[in-house]
Amino acid sequence: MLYFDYIVLGSGIAGLTFALQAAAHGRVAVVCKASLSETNTMYAQGGIAAVLSEMDSFEQHVQDTLVAGAGLCDEAAVRFMVERAPESINWLQQQGVCFDGHEDKSIALGLEGGHCQHRIVHVKDHTGLSVQQVLGKAARQHANVSVLEHHVAFELLMQHNACQGVQLLDLKAKEAKTVLAKAVVLATGGSGQIYQHTTNPSIATGDGLAMAYRAGAEISNMEFFQFHPTALYNPASKDTFLISEALRGAGAELVLPDGTPFMHRYHPQGSLAPRDVVARAVYHEMQQHSSPCLYLDARQLPEGHVQRHFPLIYNTCKRIGILAERDLIPVVPAAHYQCGGVAVDLHGQTSVPGLYAVGEVACTGVHGANRLASNSLLEGVVFGKAAAAHAVAQKYEQPESITAPELTCQAAVPPVLASIKEELRRLMWEKAGIERTYENLLQAKEQVEQLRLKLQECAAAGSPPPVGELENLLTVAAITINACLGRKQSIGGHYLVQKPVPAEGLEISW
Ligand code: FAD
Ligand code: SIN
Repeated sequence: MLYFDYIVLGSGIAGLTFALQAAAHGRVAVVCKASLSETNTMYAQGGIAAVLSEMDSFEQHVQDTLVAGAGLCDEAAVRFMVERAPESINWLQQQGVCFDGHEDKSIALGLEGGHCQHRIVHVKDHTGLSVQQVLGKAARQHANVSVLEHHVAFELLMQHNACQGVQLLDLKAKEAKTVLAKAVVLATGGSGQIYQHTTNPSIATGDGLAMAYRAGAEISNMEFFQFHPTALYNPASKDTFLISEALRGAGAELVLPDGTPFMHRYHPQGSLAPRDVVARAVYHEMQQHSSPCLYLDARQLPEGHVQRHFPLIYNTCKRIGILAERDLIPVVPAAHYQCGGVAVDLHGQTSVPGLYAVGEVACTGVHGANRLASNSLLEGVVFGKAAAAHAVAQKYEQPESITAPELTCQAAVPPVLASIKEELRRLMWEKAGIERTYENLLQAKEQVEQLRLKLQECAAAGSPPPVGELENLLTVAAITINACLGRKQSIGGHYLVQKPVPAEGLEISW
């Protein structure tokens, strides 16, 4: 049995912010199922939204967030976050993040979809990597923080109606560990892996959400999965690389296969309309033109601009023979961000005593039906800090012991797992993706249940990690489908069409 004051499940921006704040008051364990840096955070490109120019105001950032969220945001939570954005950027700078600046030392602000002002603080097009490296290093160096890499959290441990610990599997030593703490923090990120096409890395399997659900926590807004309109179309690669919205903010235009711009037909903000609008427009035009992708035209940007300001994107495209100054960049939509999650208050408290949730796994209410670009890294810092401040101010008792179910890591992995996972991700993409019909959702619900039964039949006793992860994916998929079925009108990222859109003759190969 291991004892800490706080257990943080997740080493992305939200978990590390909580850990670094709480470590001034007690011992913290940061648990991550892969390496410390393998997070969604690391892949973030565009940046972090904050009001930092005289042209801008909190009110404008609040209004942009509310508009993107299609009227379903919790306005108090939005104001809470927006007002704390400048101090959050300041805190990240104090930790050592060097955001891009101008010669006069003022911070450089980018523009992204749905924002009426330039307000995106960034480090070229690898903001997330820079934040991850700085916070990760600080956590490793902190005497009060223990980093448990390659440890997968399996189950939250409940006692006296409160969450008092976590059952972990050490993937390298292949042994189970029970960790007890005064408070447990879910910072496990999102669940993009429920979809066939996603910008999210393989760790994004919704484990935290599934564990919270099993512990009885309230979950909300799971019908609002956000699809990003511009992932690089590269059928030769298994991984999906993002082409940041910031490139459109710098002037790149979405165009049809013949090079014609089309977004102004869908929204007055054109290629910089809110993300749900752009993703649906791209999806629709792909079908209209029976095309496997559309394109981003960055050729009109000043010479050298893409290479200088978006080096990651420039070089990734170049490696597959696409030169941004010469060629159109092929793009497709992909699942990107879980707007819903474990319901929390302004302190990150879930409905389960002793359990906090921060970052993408949480539903603070700031995103409503659709997240405004670059508001999620911000949310991770603001609510990571708020949750830590709350947790350290409580008089939580340190639990002494707990009974945990037996776990083993030794059982062989049933080969059928891969096919169940593939089938789940394909059906979620086709039936609960960018466009949904009631009939498709009902079929998806039934099919997910069938897959769950199939897994139950073949899973070896003792749940080796891949079985647990797949169970979590199935749980999150079922929660998502149920939420979709419960929302009868289209709003934000949840788009219902009356009939399935005909896709005759259209073979989309990704
Ligand atoms: P993550 O960073 O995802 O970290 C999750 C952590 O949980 C990992 O350490 C993982 O190992 C751990 N974990 C998960 N399950 C378990 C388990 N069972 N046991 C133990 N550990 C577990 N947002 C912006 O605001 N601006 C951007 O420019 C931006 N760009 C993006 C680009 C891409 C390609 C992607 C994918 C996302 C982007 N986002 C962006 C969204 C943003 O990056 C994420 O929402 C945010 O990083 C989530 O942070 P987090 O701390 O909640 O979780
Ligand atoms: C992007 O850079 O396009 C992603 C920004 C975000 O998800 O907030």
